[in-house]
Amino acid sequence: TVRSTILGMGMAVPPKVLTNHDLEKMVETSDAWITERTGIKERHILEDGENISQYAIKASKEALERAGISPEDLNLIICATVTPDYLIPSLAVLVQEGLGALRAGAFDLSATCSGFVYALSIADQFVKANPEWKVLVVGAEALSRKTNWQDRSICVLLGDGAGAAVVGKSTKPSQKGIIDFILGADGSKWPLLTLKGGGSAFFPFDDRLPKEEYYIKMQGREVFKFATRVMERLALELLERNGFSKEDLDLLVPHQANLRIIEYLRDRLNLPKEKVFVNIDKYGNTSAASIPIALYEAEKEGVLKEGDLVLLVAFGGGFTFGGVLLRW
Ligand code: ACO
Repeated sequence: TVRSTILGMGMAVPPKVLTNHDLEKMVETSDAWITERTGIKERHILEDGENISQYAIKASKEALERAGISPEDLNLIICATVTPDYLIPSLAVLVQEGLGALRAGAFDLSATCSGFVYALSIADQFVKANPEWKVLVVGAEALSRKTNWQDRSICVLLGDGAGAAVVGKSTKPSQKGIIDFILGADGSKWPLLTLKGGGSAFFPFDDRLPKEEYYIKMQGREVFKFATRVMERLALELLERNGFSKEDLDLLVPHQANLRIIEYLRDRLNLPKEKVFVNIDKYGNTSAASIPIALYEAEKEGVLKEGDLVLLVAFGGGFTFGGVLLRW
């Protein structure tokens, strides 16, 4: 049987860094509070005139180069994002144009912070059905453009960035690649995390929609509780049903939303520190970009090695959640 695998990865973040100390000048907060409650020290933010498509394209070019694949060889581009440059066209077609991926279909996928895991699972299906296909999976977000910079409960959490992976058939060794995945959702919890402005429930400039609904709104506490419960369940189910124990796991790469969520999960799964990848201190929560950026850095830093059993777990607004178990 064919197994799909990540052939190459790339990442790109805007050069502008916003530190906790910068935020101290913008809202009533402190470096100590943010560090202790979230683990975040700084995040990268788009500057005026920049768009996230630039970084999605940059990350994709690197992924293609590392995979040794030319843009014309791509059959499909999936961009996981809730902050595309525009609603029409999709981010994916901007990436297609930017790469010159003339033979590729292209679409965006909206699953908040679980977007990359969702998109990777879809790429897996296409490669299994068409083993010669090459699918580009991108997670890219410009959350800073949907952030109320006066709301301290959210503006300290978010960052911008893009990560990309080229997915294709696994050749040597054949057991390398995606083993299993779980996708899930709980639509009853949608009011806990919203971005209503720009949707079709209201006309543009509709007076009935308060201005603050044009920003991401979140009930942090409730999201926190849900996230910890669901990620633990995903991790255990994916390992168990594939005949692995927690000890078999070489690296857990969780969605980087909050260091305390990650530490709670690590504790519940009884994993040593070195088996859980964390880079939230540098990027904050970049939603759909967080897992590909983390995977990229884990490989670059040598934490992620050939043959490792890796588990990706994510949760996000909607709610959505998902996990992918793979052999690196
Ligand atoms: N600086 C200083 N004080 C703050 C800040 C801040 N930036 N933000 C909140 N506070 C205050 C609150 O006002 C509150 O004060 P009070 O006790 O006087 O009312 C106090 O700190 C505690 O607030 P809580 O919200 O209870 O703090 P908590 O420990 O729950 O941490 C946080 C808040 C960091 C948001 C946490 O709940 C969290 O990370 N939740 C999960 C968020 C998440 O992961 N979202 C993922 C999805 S994001 C997406 O999809 C785009």
